[in-house]
Amino acid sequence: MSPLAFFFLFLINSSLAANTNIYNVQNYGAKPDGKTDSSKAFLNAWAAACASTSPATINVPSGKYLIHNAYFNGQTCKSKGVTIHIDGTLLAPSDYNVIGNDENWIKFEKVNGISIYGGTFDGQGAALWACKKSNNKKCPDGTTALTFYNSNNIIMSGVTVQNSQKFQILVDGCHNVKIQGMKVLAQGNSKNTDGIHVKLSSGVSIVNSQIGTGDDCVSIGPGTSNLWIEGIACGPGHGISIGSLGRKEQELGVQNVTIKTVTFTGTTNGVRVKTWARPSNGFVRNILFQHIVMVNVQNPIIIDQNYCPNHDESCPQQSSGIKISDVTYQDIHGTSATKVAVKLDCSTTNPCSGIVLEDLNLSYQNQQTEASCVNARGRVSGLQKPTNCLLKN
Ligand SMILES: *[C@@H]1O[C@H](CO)[C@@H](O)[C@H](O)[C@H]1NC(C)=O
Ligand SMILES: *[C@@H]1O[C@H](CO)[C@@H](O)[C@H](O)[C@H]1NC(C)=O
Repeated sequence: MSPLAFFFLFLINSSLAANTNIYNVQNYGAKPDGKTDSSKAFLNAWAAACASTSPATINVPSGKYLIHNAYFNGQTCKSKGVTIHIDGTLLAPSDYNVIGNDENWIKFEKVNGISIYGGTFDGQGAALWACKKSNNKKCPDGTTALTFYNSNNIIMSGVTVQNSQKFQILVDGCHNVKIQGMKVLAQGNSKNTDGIHVKLSSGVSIVNSQIGTGDDCVSIGPGTSNLWIEGIACGPGHGISIGSLGRKEQELGVQNVTIKTVTFTGTTNGVRVKTWARPSNGFVRNILFQHIVMVNVQNPIIIDQNYCPNHDESCPQQSSGIKISDVTYQDIHGTSATKVAVKLDCSTTNPCSGIVLEDLNLSYQNQQTEASCVNARGRVSGLQKPTNCLLKN
C-alpha cells in the first residue's frame, strides 16, 4: 500500500472512531453483580446514546445486571440508530410478583434503527411456570421478556433469550426486522412461553436460530406480511404456527410467509395454521412451507379451523370466517409421532383452496401414515406419503 493510501485509510479509520460515541452502562452506574437494580443506569445510557447526533453504541460488559422494567423509547432520538453490544446477561427479578403483572420486561418502542449484538436476556420465569402448573389462581399472567413495538429497522444477532415468564420475543407493529443466530430457550413444559411472536409487522426475517420452548417456536399473528423464516431448529415446543387467528370479527390477514429449511424435533405440531371457529374477515394466503424435516412430531402438517385449546363450553363451535388459500407444502419428510401426519380441517363456510402438496414423505413407526381432509381443495405433485386426500380445486 502506498504511503498516501495508508494515510487516507488512517484518516477514515480515525474519523469513524471519533464519530461513534460509546456509552458503557457501567459508567452510568450499572453493577454487574446480579443484585443491584441497574434499570436506571441502562435507561440513562439509552438517553445519552439517543441524544447523540453521531452513531451511538451502548456497551454492556460481562456480568449479570438486574433489570426491573426497562422501556427504551426512541421517539425523540437524534441519533440515526443505536447499537447495543452485550457481553453480559440482563436478569429479570426472580420474584414473579415484581413484574408478573406488567406487559413487558424490556421494551423498545418507536425506535428507528436498533441493533443488538450478543448477550443474554434471562426472564427467570421458572417460579411463575411452577405457580401456573400448581393451578394456584393467584399467579400473575406473566410478562413478555423482550418487545419491539412500533419500531423499524431492527437487527438482533447472536442473542440468547431464555426463561421468559410468558412470550420470549414479541415483534409488534414493526417493519424491516432481521433476527439471526439466536437461541430462544425455555423448558418444554413452561406455559405460554412462545419463542418469537410476530404481529402487525412486515419484512421480518428470522434465520439460523435455535428455538425450544413450552409453546410455539414462532407464532404469527394478524397483520403479518412478507415474513421469512429459514434455518430454524425447533423443539421442544408446539411448532411454528400461523395463528391463532379469527378471534375477532375484524382482523387483518396474514400473507406472503416463507418457512423453509426447518427441523422440528419432538414437537406437538410441525407447520400449523389455526383459527377460531367464529365469524371473521381475516385471511391467510401465499404461504410456502419448504424443505422441512420432522422428527417424531405429533401433527407434522395441520390446518385447524376449529381451534379450541381447552375443549370447553367457551369454544365458539361456529364456522371460521378466515379464508385460507394458496398454501404450499413442498419437500416435507421425516417421522410423525401419530398415524395421521396430515390433517387439514378447514372451515365449512370458507373451504381452504389452492393447497399444494408436493413431495411428502412422512412415516409413523416405519408404517404408512394417513391424511385427513375436511373442506380442503387443491392439487398434488410428486411423492405423496401419506396418500393425498384433497378435493380437486
Ligand atoms: C414476499 O416477502 C419477501 C420477503 O419475505 C419479499 O422479498 C417479497 O418481495 C414479497 N413478495 C411480495 C409479492 O410482496
Ligand atoms: C421416504 O423416506 C424413507 C424413510 O426415511 C426413505 O427410506 C425413502 O427412501 C424415502 N422415499 C423417497 C422416495 O424419497
